[in-house]
Amino acid sequence: HTTTSAVNKGRPVVPTQEGRSLDALHSIPVHKLRAQAAATEALTVPESYPHFTPFVENKKQYDEMYKRSIEDPNGFWGDIAKEFHWEKQWDEEHISYNFDVRKGPIHVEYFKGGLTNICYNALDRHVAAGHGDRVCFLWEGNDLDQDRKMTYGEVLEEVCQLANYLRSQGVQKGDAVSIYMPMVCELPIAMLACARIGAVHSVVFGGFSAEALAGRMEDCKAKVLITASGVMRGNKKIDLKAIADSAHTMAAKSGHTVPRVVVYENERAGGRAACSFTEGRDVWYAEAIAEQAKTCEVEWVEAEHPLFLLYTSGSTGKPKGVVHCTGGYMVYAHTTTKYVFNMQPGDTYWCTADCGWITGHTYLTYGPLLVGASQVVFEGVPTYPGPDRCWRVVDKYAVKQFYTAPTAIRSLMRAGDLYVKEHLRDSLRILGSVGEPINPEAWRWYHDIVGDGRCPIVDTWWQTETGGHMITPLPNAWAQKPGSATYPFFGVVPVLVDEKGNEVKGEGEGYLCIKQAWPATLRTVYGDHERYETNYFKPFPGYYFSGDGARRDKDGYIWITGRVDDVINVSGHRIGTAEVESALVAHAKCAEAAVVGYEHPIKGQGIYAYVTLMEGVEPTEDIRRELINTVRGIIGAFAAPDVIHWAPGLPKTRSGKIMRRVLRKIAAKQEDELGDVSTLADPHVVEQLVALRGH
Ligand code: WT7
Repeated sequence: HTTTSAVNKGRPVVPTQEGRSLDALHSIPVHKLRAQAAATEALTVPESYPHFTPFVENKKQYDEMYKRSIEDPNGFWGDIAKEFHWEKQWDEEHISYNFDVRKGPIHVEYFKGGLTNICYNALDRHVAAGHGDRVCFLWEGNDLDQDRKMTYGEVLEEVCQLANYLRSQGVQKGDAVSIYMPMVCELPIAMLACARIGAVHSVVFGGFSAEALAGRMEDCKAKVLITASGVMRGNKKIDLKAIADSAHTMAAKSGHTVPRVVVYENERAGGRAACSFTEGRDVWYAEAIAEQAKTCEVEWVEAEHPLFLLYTSGSTGKPKGVVHCTGGYMVYAHTTTKYVFNMQPGDTYWCTADCGWITGHTYLTYGPLLVGASQVVFEGVPTYPGPDRCWRVVDKYAVKQFYTAPTAIRSLMRAGDLYVKEHLRDSLRILGSVGEPINPEAWRWYHDIVGDGRCPIVDTWWQTETGGHMITPLPNAWAQKPGSATYPFFGVVPVLVDEKGNEVKGEGEGYLCIKQAWPATLRTVYGDHERYETNYFKPFPGYYFSGDGARRDKDGYIWITGRVDDVINVSGHRIGTAEVESALVAHAKCAEAAVVGYEHPIKGQGIYAYVTLMEGVEPTEDIRRELINTVRGIIGAFAAPDVIHWAPGLPKTRSGKIMRRVLRKIAAKQEDELGDVSTLADPHVVEQLVALRGH
């Protein structure tokens, strides 16, 4: 009976692990891809979608634009940027970057010399052009009877009021503001208010725990926290303010006291009466803005001024604060939104993502407003009160572009076609997918049933770090293959590299890297530029390394296979296995834990945790529950393990390294494909684990 001693709690997080030695990367699941590619012929020809005129009409036009975007990025992005208001024009040669660690520090710069403001461009610019009465937000609450419309003019006024309030609290250019809110209009409004005064927002998804919020507020030394009394998600009431309160206490204990907490009153989730309130520190949102003027002077910022921090999980260690800056991000968010969704000003668009993730930043708060669209902001969940909610909302507002995640598509698919068919959906023109690879079956259902075969699918591959779409179809411009993200967006040069870092040309598979900067490249990891370089630029010198594997087929189409590092993608939520492991070992009875992803029919990937208990502790149902609750408490409910596999021992090499490959195979019930296990210190561990697999 081999077990680990209590001293050896958890996987040590050694700094050098950050740079993922190549043998730590998973191999690319080539067999899966080949099968997929063989089963999916090019599906549709552009002519079969007659319902709109695309900005990019065909592959030839794309090729020309793409060529220019790569060969003359200064001119290509410069021309687009002219559509915006710049308080001061950028220099002609505005781009400079270094992606090669061997040549010095990694840096990226766009629109050098320019001064602008993204809030001005998202709101004031449209109002000044006479579109103040255009609907900006179509808010749809959790319950069917809750909705609210806000025009661009109204949103601008409220943004100004909040911006004035933040200024009155001493928030200055460059200061961080944490936002922990449900999907109410005030969430994107808070983000825009920060941007208006040059403050840096850090939105923390409302599903994160107090501890996760505390860590993030502390890391960026937030000056203000904007939160809400609570939120209803389906039938569940979530007491956001109580969580925010404990986060505040935790952050204070570790040395950072957030001086001011602004609380938005969400009446349906309890409202004031049910909400704790700390005099002197807390202020009600409505009262904070009530006295403020409805105009507010814009803070013009340098193009490279940081716009936001967004914490995201990596292979190891604490979540990283990904930093995006103003100018390049603004132009890229706008351009991708416009071309990928073929979006015209005034279009009614709906992205189901929460603003707590990058999709909600780029394709809810910023992109659609920069274009001037009217968009749905949805507080609830796609299956409440029934699995037809999405299609009901699509009809209610006549949504033209709909953007969601494969996990939602799969769960709605499972509910059955009837829920879809009882609604018209005739306003739909384009359907988007994001967050994880979409399986061809879900793709076809989305295309044939939801879109009635009339709407092209844009399967958009990108990441928190890339700020915007990187590899994606353009609607109607070329034939689609279900499951392939197809071709790179303008300015993006994806390459596949092998273990040695050599580019794989033509047909083949490899690690997905990006060869040159694009406008929304992440600029750094907040407070740790070295981690930025180590994580993204050292694995394959000369390239940005995405962490994904991919294959290029004979037609040049790119197929993403998923993460090759220790990051898993659960319902489109990105989770670091190391974070779940350290949460598990925080439980007193857990000696050691190893977490891997496994294929899950709805979530894409599920969380599979191998747990070794302390010497003498017998596994019980209670301990299983406690372990899961520990993870909920430390990270958030969405990171709760789906499977706990009791493990008397873990497969380790003689040097003590856990062989995760073996754990992934056992979780996948593919122990016949274990490969070489001769380097294991104790090969019997494998049989033992297989025997203990309780499912
Ligand atoms: C990871 C990034 C991009 C916004 C939401 C997730 C996976 C994302 C796709 C896609 C296959 C995809 C990748 C990527 N991913 N979109 N269309 N096809 N995989 O952002 O949390 O930063 O996660 O999501 O594995 O690396 P994120």
